[in-house]
Amino acid sequence: MKVAFFSAKKYEVEIFKQSNQKSSLEFHFFESRLTEQTAQLAKGHHAVCCFVNDVLDAPVLRILADLNIKYIALRCAGYNNIDLNAAQNLGLQVFRVPEYSPYAVAEHATALLLTLNRKIHRAHNRVRELNFALDGLVGFDLHGKTVGVIGTGKIGRVFATIMKGFGCRVLAFDPHPNTDLKIDIEYVTLNEIYRNSDVLSLHCPLNEHTRYLLNEQAFGQMKRNAILINTGRGAIIDTKALINALKTHQIGGACLDVYEEEEGIFFNDQSIEGIEDDILARLTTFPNVLITSHQAFLTKEALANIATTTIQNLERTQIPALV
Ligand code: NAI
Repeated sequence: MKVAFFSAKKYEVEIFKQSNQKSSLEFHFFESRLTEQTAQLAKGHHAVCCFVNDVLDAPVLRILADLNIKYIALRCAGYNNIDLNAAQNLGLQVFRVPEYSPYAVAEHATALLLTLNRKIHRAHNRVRELNFALDGLVGFDLHGKTVGVIGTGKIGRVFATIMKGFGCRVLAFDPHPNTDLKIDIEYVTLNEIYRNSDVLSLHCPLNEHTRYLLNEQAFGQMKRNAILINTGRGAIIDTKALINALKTHQIGGACLDVYEEEEGIFFNDQSIEGIEDDILARLTTFPNVLITSHQAFLTKEALANIATTTIQNLERTQIPALV
């Protein structure tokens, strides 16, 4: 089976080639993101393989169906970027990688928190310029602090466990509380999480209930020194409301691995061209905001698991299709 692999990056091409040695799949790697303009690259293939910022809305799916594509293999867990109803109506089977490494994402959330809180990024830059002064680098102990976790699925529960290891109290919100958790966390309401958390980390999917969950009202309830972490999906936060909350010192800082308008920016080198997005540009100017470019998943283990599961999905030996 011929597979058109969109948004191909060097670090995953190697791993896919290694993992694919025994399968009958033939991957053709395209650096382009899948959009209405690039969908024709899928001509002559049976399947497309896509990542988080590929566009899989109804018009693109229609083009793929017209090109005789039968399968869509997402190389990610989240599936907010695909119109599943349209896919089903067009007879396209959709697969994803429901779990590749919750540790990769939870550990990245922790790395962001520690870096922002202890100002490691600023300290590193200073020392490289032989500035050994400590002014402006004061952080706080995580031990004894209250950490809010929104979404206690695979990633949220690993993050909660890590925070318990730091000696934190963990409050959680999830419409489907996890009754098997072996750690001591307290399920509370969203308002209680907002009011009591010193650190708040988002691990829920993006859907109609969670879009702009973190909005002006939520920021208004949060502690003034609270650090917000988002490794979920960008649009869980109303970014304009976040900027306002940062400008008015309503919250203490933000660690962002995702951004609501990241498509076409994240994963690309824009260092020569610059960016046109004024909201993202504003976010980068805050000293108390740390941004990474959707890299929380990026460990060797996660990449290997993504490749193995995607190949199994396309050989239809593993997981049931989403539709
Ligand atoms: P999961 O499906 O195991 O857990 C999601 C949890 O969120 C579930 O327990 C669910 O009940 C809960 N949830 C659903 N609606 C909610 C709501 N309205 N409020 C609070 N909780 C709600 O998913 P997993 O593997 O833990 O991933 C979570 C999210 O992390 C994914 O949906 C994806 O968007 C994001 N992600 C980000 C990555 C990155 O590289 N930054 C990599 C992988 C996932």
